[in-house]
Amino acid sequence: MAAVRVLFVCLGNICRSPTAHGVFESLVASRGLERAIAVDSCGTGDWHVGHPPDRRAAAEALKRGYEIGHLRARQVAPADFTRFHYILAMDRTNLADLQAMCPPEFSGQLGLFLSYAPGSGLEEVPDPYYGADDGFTRVLNLVEAASEGLLEEIRGAHSLR
Ligand code: 4NP
Repeated sequence: MAAVRVLFVCLGNICRSPTAHGVFESLVASRGLERAIAVDSCGTGDWHVGHPPDRRAAAEALKRGYEIGHLRARQVAPADFTRFHYILAMDRTNLADLQAMCPPEFSGQLGLFLSYAPGSGLEEVPDPYYGADDGFTRVLNLVEAASEGLLEEIRGAHSLR
């Protein structure tokens, strides 16, 4: 099993978190760290369990070379708090839902993904589901920035080169 395991969480697991999953996994692979860092995503809600990413999210990701169409939505489960070291929420509602189910013995990092993109000026990745298509472009910009910051954090914290 990979030494460091990262879980991205949003509401439906069809827009923001699968985008983060694909972008971060690609970044990890580009640095040759795919055996050291494992990546997954899920949603706090169950409406889209088993569904592929929203086609707008998949199309926007593909424009930048990220293939996420194979991903399937799943709902967060209690076991995730024993499997993952970094559990990163897209917005404050997701974070509150995760905090409510987080066992006291969890010793990893539970927080907002955009804390790794301090220059973005935002704390939350805005939910693009009901908005215009440019919301998906914005999601990708934010996710790419936070992915770089997260990888630097993990490399430092876990002495990965
Ligand atoms: P996500 O976006 O949380 O980024 O996957 C959403 C997907 C579906 C819904 C809301 C947000 N929904 O209400 O079904």
